[in-house]
Amino acid sequence: MFIPGLRVLNPACWTKRKNILNKTGFTHESSVNQSCEWYTPKYIFDWLGMEFDLDPCHPKERLPWIPVKNIYTEADNSLEKDWEGCVWLNPPYGRLTAPFLNKMSRHRNGIALLFSRTDCRWFHDYIKKADATLFLKGRIKFVDGNGITKGRGSACGSILVAWGNKSVKALEKNRDKGYLIFNFGFENYGVRDEINKRIDDLKKGN
Ligand SMILES: C[S@@+](CC[C@H](N)C(=O)[O-])C[C@H]1O[C@@H](n2cnc3c(N)ncnc32)[C@H](O)[C@@H]1O
Repeated sequence: MFIPGLRVLNPACWTKRKNILNKTGFTHESSVNQSCEWYTPKYIFDWLGMEFDLDPCHPKERLPWIPVKNIYTEADNSLEKDWEGCVWLNPPYGRLTAPFLNKMSRHRNGIALLFSRTDCRWFHDYIKKADATLFLKGRIKFVDGNGITKGRGSACGSILVAWGNKSVKALEKNRDKGYLIFNFGFENYGVRDEINKRIDDLKKGN
């Protein structure tokens, strides 16, 4: 019997597809959406209120609302470049997410915007080693390659991930936008002293 909207997949294909999703975090439902040309809306930068030194994943056309001094595009292949200063990272979806996060995780200065895919390998490899993570309420409506925001938003929620004091402070200012966690792992030397001082101040009632 034909049931509209129901696609019956061979179990082997379904397992393969699920494995790809688990590794990459790519969740856009339609093949039409399988593009990296989805951009961060301006209000995210208004929330953060900071200027970045580098956007290593920028489209060919400069996006005027991204407050950044320097950019790299796909033609530069920024994975091969040196990154300097405070980085804004909204990496390409799919297989490139993990290598970009690996590089950011070693650079340790800036903010990344990612899907909140806690089932992905990259989440467990890199996000727990960041300094802070803000799980945003609701879903972001990304701007498409034509500069248009439409529809009900992305297929899952998003996180803002911070490395370094300046970036952590920007997330802290926005803690009302979601659920903010600080990571106290031994890897996180960047902000630990400051957080400990803040805890002491709170205990003293300051
Ligand atoms: C999700 S968009 C983010 C764009 C912008 N940074 C933002 O926050 O809205 C990812 C961008 O990375 C670019 N890109 C893809 N592969 C790249 C590479 N190897 N090096 C640099 N940029 C790349 C894509 O062309 C795309 O414009």
